[in-house]
Amino acid sequence: MKEGQGRQIGAGEERLSRFLARSGIASRRHVDELIAAGRVTVNGQVAVLGQKVRPGEDKVLVDGREVGGVEEHIYIMLHKPPGYLSTCADPRGRRTVLSLLEGVPERVFPVGRLDYDAEGLLLLTNDGDLTYVLTHPKHRVIKEYAVWVAGPKDESKIRDILSGIIIGGKNVQVDYARFTGGSGLMQELIIGVHEGQKHLVKHICHSVGYEVKRLKRLKIGPLRLGALRKGEWRYLSPGEVKALYEEARKGWEGEHDK
Ligand code: URA
Repeated sequence: MKEGQGRQIGAGEERLSRFLARSGIASRRHVDELIAAGRVTVNGQVAVLGQKVRPGEDKVLVDGREVGGVEEHIYIMLHKPPGYLSTCADPRGRRTVLSLLEGVPERVFPVGRLDYDAEGLLLLTNDGDLTYVLTHPKHRVIKEYAVWVAGPKDESKIRDILSGIIIGGKNVQVDYARFTGGSGLMQELIIGVHEGQKHLVKHICHSVGYEVKRLKRLKIGPLRLGALRKGEWRYLSPGEVKALYEEARKGWEGEHDK
């Protein structure tokens, strides 16, 4: 057993991964990757998974930068334009969504991903718990996309999509899909999914022979992109944040009541 594992959490202690997620470093899943990669130290020692810390007493560094503890949570909704990466940095120097958040001093990170060429609703926050509940499929929070595809309108493709698609050897359940417009060789679809694999909607369309020409996220759970224009952002209201948590709670309970 490695140091730090298998011991009860004592008074004034907290699991390192929770401390980091709470501090806005990254989502809970991602902080475990940071720890496993040896990028976190506690009092000068490289941290291990499962380790506990004493917030306010132990000195925790990520990539050599000290992590302070609790930060006020902020929640931002951005209308991501195509041509921006939904990551915090890019080794190839491409533009990231963070460059659109002028005037936001807090360190926030994107909730899930939206492809470089995709557009629409992207949430950014320093609340690792919200990131976790919105991105883990067990909470069944549906993300809705408008998709423009090349090819003729064919209802049998919708039936195929809804009957379950195998992607990367895994059966993916699509929550809903329907045609909403189009003409000739370009169709417009609405697709709702609660899973979050990379390029999921593109894979779904490709699996029935449609090539995606444009992809726009319209909704995350109860939250709609609304009238926000490309490149614009706004803070979420406390009611909107509550509604997102509530949606995840209902999804999780629904899944476990079956
Ligand atoms: N599905 C995709 O294919 N791309 C995205 O950006 C989001 C969902």
